[in-house]
Amino acid sequence: MPRKLFVTTALPYANGNFHIGHIMEYIQADIWVRFQKMQRSEDGSPVDVNFVCADDAHGAPIMIAAEKAGKTPQQFVAEIAAGRKPYLDGFHIAFDNWHSTDAPENHDLARQIYRDLKAAGLIDTRTIDQFFDPEKTMFLPDRYIKGQCPKCGAKDQFGDNCEVCGAVYAPTDLIGPYSTLSGATPVLKSSEHFFFILSDPRCVEFLEQWVGGLDTDGKPRLQLEVANKVREWFSVRENADGSRSEGLGDWDISRDAPYFGIEIPDAPGKYFYVWLDAPVGYLASLKNLLDRRCIEAGEDGLSFTEYMADPELEQIHFIGKDIVTFHTLFWPAMLHFSGRKAPNKVFVHGFLTVNNGEKMSKSRGTGLDPLKYLSLGMNPEWLRYYLAAKLNAKNEDIDFNADDFLARVNSDLVGKFVNIASRAIKFLPEGKLVASDFDAHSALTSKSLLALVKDFYDSREYAKGLREVMLFADQVNARFDAAAPWKLVKESKAALAAEKSSEALQMFRVITACLKPVLPALAEQVEVLLKCAPLDWINAADSLPEGHLVGAYHHLMQRVDPKQLDALFEPPAQPERSQAAPEMIANGDRQPSPPPSPGGRGSEPGGEPIAPTITIDDFAKIDLRIALIVNCEAVDGSTKLLRLTLDAGEGTDPQGGPILRNVFSGIASAYQPADLIGKHTVMVANLAPRKMKFGLSEGMVLAASHGDEKATPGIYLLEPWPGARPGMRVR
Ligand code: MSP
Ligand code: ZN
Repeated sequence: MPRKLFVTTALPYANGNFHIGHIMEYIQADIWVRFQKMQRSEDGSPVDVNFVCADDAHGAPIMIAAEKAGKTPQQFVAEIAAGRKPYLDGFHIAFDNWHSTDAPENHDLARQIYRDLKAAGLIDTRTIDQFFDPEKTMFLPDRYIKGQCPKCGAKDQFGDNCEVCGAVYAPTDLIGPYSTLSGATPVLKSSEHFFFILSDPRCVEFLEQWVGGLDTDGKPRLQLEVANKVREWFSVRENADGSRSEGLGDWDISRDAPYFGIEIPDAPGKYFYVWLDAPVGYLASLKNLLDRRCIEAGEDGLSFTEYMADPELEQIHFIGKDIVTFHTLFWPAMLHFSGRKAPNKVFVHGFLTVNNGEKMSKSRGTGLDPLKYLSLGMNPEWLRYYLAAKLNAKNEDIDFNADDFLARVNSDLVGKFVNIASRAIKFLPEGKLVASDFDAHSALTSKSLLALVKDFYDSREYAKGLREVMLFADQVNARFDAAAPWKLVKESKAALAAEKSSEALQMFRVITACLKPVLPALAEQVEVLLKCAPLDWINAADSLPEGHLVGAYHHLMQRVDPKQLDALFEPPAQPERSQAAPEMIANGDRQPSPPPSPGGRGSEPGGEPIAPTITIDDFAKIDLRIALIVNCEAVDGSTKLLRLTLDAGEGTDPQGGPILRNVFSGIASAYQPADLIGKHTVMVANLAPRKMKFGLSEGMVLAASHGDEKATPGIYLLEPWPGARPGMRVR
């Protein structure tokens, strides 16, 4: 029986473009799927695989990001979705469908699963107290509450733990809590929430056996290290508040309006928490695909329900190590207790880091920009090969290292692989293969290589599989070198040269088949070159017949150029630094930026290029406030600085006077102190205080100037429109 596979990768949040970590996950899964599609059962029927993904569209962060961008959440996620294709096509990632968790299929399926869980007696409601933002009129997720750490007193710590002392607490423990959305002081408000009763003995029993169990193929469902970790969540543990709890806690699956999500049936104003409907998106994407195929095929199409009901169907999820709980506890339980089949396997990978361990941040996606990689003309299959050569079946992190990448790709793909064809083709008489038998001379025959590599691919041990393939290529090259056909032709032994070259080309074809899941485009070029049928795992084992005509060699793959890697990792252009910070350059903190290139854009706005893009979250870190200039005076011993005394609306001190800040500003060339007193301006209120020769500077005022101050002098302090009061935030 041919296998029937339903394969997914995690659904990326629709709040940003892909970063290289996403691409790694897709490449890992795409290789596995392409490998499976190359298998055929004994009767010749192909393996049936559906490989799907979708945007994870819901949740508070996306709703808030959309609002800040002045868009509806639907518009916002549609724009993100529209940007997916260049990445997927660019890296040969061939999903059979890409959908969205906000699509109607997902609304229907999520609600149906919920109804089924409710009918099974596993949904309950409870009233909980939660922080509520009275200005935004919404309940605040923990990440949108900040305040002073109750343990160490550090300011501006998140609602769940302190980044300074590491303390873990509830948002209600914060001193002076505030909403990061509005700045308002949150109030406690109670609300009814829906819970999935995972503590029910039925759930515990099911999950214990599911987590530790074997799949229908007799193999463990989860990697050993993953199963061990998941088991810890069943065992007795200590909670944040010091209490102890046993096993699984119940799962809060509802959120109150306003929320971008799916409304809970018969519960107006209540929505599913994003992680409830997100994995349902796997099914929704599949259903959308099958429904479309059904329409195309007329009556003969297989419905989603029929497809899912097949006991032979294997449901497989590729995910990263950070989302294991959702996929090994909540999701299998949701499926099982709603009368559906739980996943067959969850394959967990580690994280990709770039150039020695820099972690890809979810929001920033640092390091290696996938689209930049492509736009530099770098071959996507280099990256596929390089990642595959590092990937294994464990959930270990792997690192992209530029030097290693160059060495590996150039040595393996160019030096060992395509080199075989470029050297061998020219010795074929009239471009035709002659009889040859590599296997008679090799310890590892081409059939056993295919069998060996097959197991490695199937078990996601790509690194091991590719090592075998390259060892095999070494042998092919060694035999070719030992025979030295270029000498044979000179010695009038052209027939022998043709035989040795045919042998090498036959093996080149087998190697190509072994690499095809990783290098699909290159394999296609080789199929054209060798004028052979599309390679699969079965036909690759049979040699091409004697007399088979092959094409003329053309270049198959370029070497990686170190200049491309330099360009890839060159940081985005920095605004040119004027004399303002000479000490930074002297310290070597920052390389002085090169002068603007003569042929470049000569008319940078204001004399310097626009700085690299930041997110709204990055901007939100800068706390700009209206300040009243209470006093201003010259600084003895400095021609550049003025000393400003600012009232930023921070209340009164114990003596009843306003709390004031001392700020030094390099604006003496532009203003007389007396002209500034009584004016309002804008200050950075959360800048770390800086000790200067003349005293402590507790902030910074904002002023405009040209990038080239010498050519275009002038400094212009910002002044708000009338009506702005000290302490008002500028955003
Ligand atoms: N939306 C959820 C998943 C819902 S699945 C029903 C999510 N999205 S994500 O965009 O943050 O991550 C998507 C996938 O990318 C996850 O599997 C995650 O582990 C993976 N990766 C994120 N950063 C990664 C690396 N640096 N390296 C490899 N994979 C990484 O979580
Ligand atoms: Zn602390």
